[in-house]
Amino acid sequence: MKPSLETDFAGVSLKNPLVLASGTCGFGREFDEIFEISRLGGICSKGLTLKARPGNEGIRIWETSAGVMNSVGLENPGVPGFIAEEYPLMRRLGPAVIVNLGGHSIDDYLQGVELLNAVEFDILELNISCPNVKAGGMAFGVKTEIARDVVRRVRSICKHRLMVKLSPNAEDIVALARCCQEEGADGVSLVNTFLAMAIDVQKRKPVFENTYAGLSGPAIKPIALRMVHQVAKVLTIPVMGVGGITTWQDAAEFIMAGARAVQIGTASFINPAISLEILEGLESWMESQGIADINEIRGIV
Ligand SMILES: Cc1cc2nc3c(=O)[nH]c(=O)nc-3n(C[C@H](O)[C@H](O)[C@H](O)COP(=O)(O)O)c2cc1C
Repeated sequence: MKPSLETDFAGVSLKNPLVLASGTCGFGREFDEIFEISRLGGICSKGLTLKARPGNEGIRIWETSAGVMNSVGLENPGVPGFIAEEYPLMRRLGPAVIVNLGGHSIDDYLQGVELLNAVEFDILELNISCPNVKAGGMAFGVKTEIARDVVRRVRSICKHRLMVKLSPNAEDIVALARCCQEEGADGVSLVNTFLAMAIDVQKRKPVFENTYAGLSGPAIKPIALRMVHQVAKVLTIPVMGVGGITTWQDAAEFIMAGARAVQIGTASFINPAISLEILEGLESWMESQGIADINEIRGIV
């Protein structure tokens, strides 16, 4: 018998735990032309802001020896642009739709949530952790008490299931996760990118206009895994693990550490269909081990 990879995330049924991470798959359209995106559990949209943003100037992506650094700066069509132009197709693709929302002020978040309340999708992923936006972005996800305020106010008006995306740059990731749960989040996802830096030695200056940028990919996996493990141990709400997942073994590690679902980001830049390969790898491994249901291995470590 084929193993079951179905998983319930805060009342949303995912056909399997594999989800495309925000900012690494657009709104799914281009990926759908390359592989059967409908076989995945979910897709997270690019981080939206209330108004459209052109993103940051200068270099936006920089390769490192074990991952990439990015300073895209939330380039996006804005919430109204998303609803009009991207949402209808994203909804039709098949996987659960997760809408990622960023902001520069609490009012931005609240107005974005109000507009999004008018459309149907599965989960709102509240991005309080973007390191690449000046004045705001990550600030909301570093200090627990600031995060508490955003989550409380968003929760009070948000009609969707709410998953808060945590920053690994937080002063205390476990305290931050607990506070999201206390304020009514239905789940958390972690981690976003790590604040990092690269210097162009020829020019003798930082590569990025904003000096610092977000590091993702294989380099961050062991740290992300540790954080997911720490957080999943203490929360009762579900955890989505993100950070450097490139192989089915990586995905299995996050699930064993307690994640109910996992997001694949940077790995798709090397092979856009990698999430399907991870899915197939997980399936055949489960079959060979006699694991009938993915939930059997969740949190066993
Ligand atoms: C180019 C790029 C753009 C990203 N944009 C967003 C975004 O808009 N919102 C967000 O919450 N995370 C964003 N992220 C973070 C990813 O969703 C993910 O949390 C992070 O890259 C770690 O996972 P990975 O190592 O599998 O890439 C972005 C990452 C990259 C590489």
